Amino acid sequence: MSALHPAVEVDGDKLMQFVFRAVDEVGATLNAALVVMGDKLGLYRALAEGGPLSSAELAARTGTAERYVREWLNAQAAGGFVAYDPDSGSYTLPPEQTVALTDSDSPAYLPGFFQIALGSVIDSPKIVERARSGDGFGWHEHVHDVHDGCERFFRPGYNAHLVAEWLPALDGVVAKLERGGLVADVGCGHGSSTILMATAFPNSTFVGSDYHAGSIETARQRANEAGVGDRVSFQVAPAAAYSGTGYDLVTMFDCLHDMGDPVGAARHVRSTLKGDGSWMIVEPRAGDRIEDNFNPVGRAYYAFSTLLCTPASLSQEVGLALGAQAGESRIRDVVQTAGFGRFRQAAETPFNLVFEARA
Ligand SMILES: C[S@@+](CC[C@H](N)C(=O)[O-])C[C@H]1O[C@@H](n2cnc3c(N)ncnc32)[C@H](O)[C@@H]1O
Repeated sequence: MSALHPAVEVDGDKLMQFVFRAVDEVGATLNAALVVMGDKLGLYRALAEGGPLSSAELAARTGTAERYVREWLNAQAAGGFVAYDPDSGSYTLPPEQTVALTDSDSPAYLPGFFQIALGSVIDSPKIVERARSGDGFGWHEHVHDVHDGCERFFRPGYNAHLVAEWLPALDGVVAKLERGGLVADVGCGHGSSTILMATAFPNSTFVGSDYHAGSIETARQRANEAGVGDRVSFQVAPAAAYSGTGYDLVTMFDCLHDMGDPVGAARHVRSTLKGDGSWMIVEPRAGDRIEDNFNPVGRAYYAFSTLLCTPASLSQEVGLALGAQAGESRIRDVVQTAGFGRFRQAAETPFNLVFEARA
């Protein structure tokens, strides 16, 4: 019997199972900070390049304090991120962890995922306040780890899928971009998708936009570093008011659900597209029913949605708050309400749904 609910029978075994599962979750919560620490201090990279290493050797290679590094290594070994050899007292980064934790070109690259998660947790006391008041919390108000982590989390997936799969899945778009088209990448953040497309289609012109001035400043730097500054321009603008018309393609990567007024944004997209233009909407993978998303991806996305996406939308006019698990039918509803005649799912990955809308 439970003290609080005397009428409810509590299964002691199930209770202890849940408690031990929670121990694992607390370890995982803290590990987000340790992964970001290992990434920022170069511990994974040094271990990948020089392992097996003792804690003293790893500290010497990274210019860090041995006592911190030893504790970090033991936590990493206990969690299976690093392998420990008790005979030699040395630590190794296994090959798969080397790819996932150090190869920023791999679609399996993880540090950005942890960085945006940790940034979200750091800002969570503000979300607790807003959950009481009902007010929103804008994307621009978050710590830099959210913005930087977002770029580093999404870019590997765009590298793997955008040019090879998603654009070819749209009707006639690749041919237009090869000939030379005009593209608006709306809600572009640090511009990784804009720069990837500009690199792949040198005859086309790209206009990235985002309401967050800090993100646009970074996007401009990234474009110059990538050598595509001549055919990419960026502007600070909300999705309902970016400039230009006659676009062959408008893209939105993981941002439509963050907007307060996605229908208003969709109407603006429609007014800026050429008659035969296409709108590509990349959204987090989700089923239409809540229970469809009871899986590890849905769990992570509902959590991001609570801490980032829903507050972001609520901070803007209308505050529709679609949430990061909106699913196809709610996105279709937004698109059709804005007057688009055609809407279909064009592609998918374990993390994304890709939709095409046309007039
Ligand atoms: C999750 S981030 C995705 C950024 C980028 N598309 C990417 O994939 O890396 C969402 C972006 O939407 C932008 N955003 C949110 N509401 C917006 C609005 N109403 N108009 C334009 N951008 C908006 C945010 O500033 C942020 O850069």
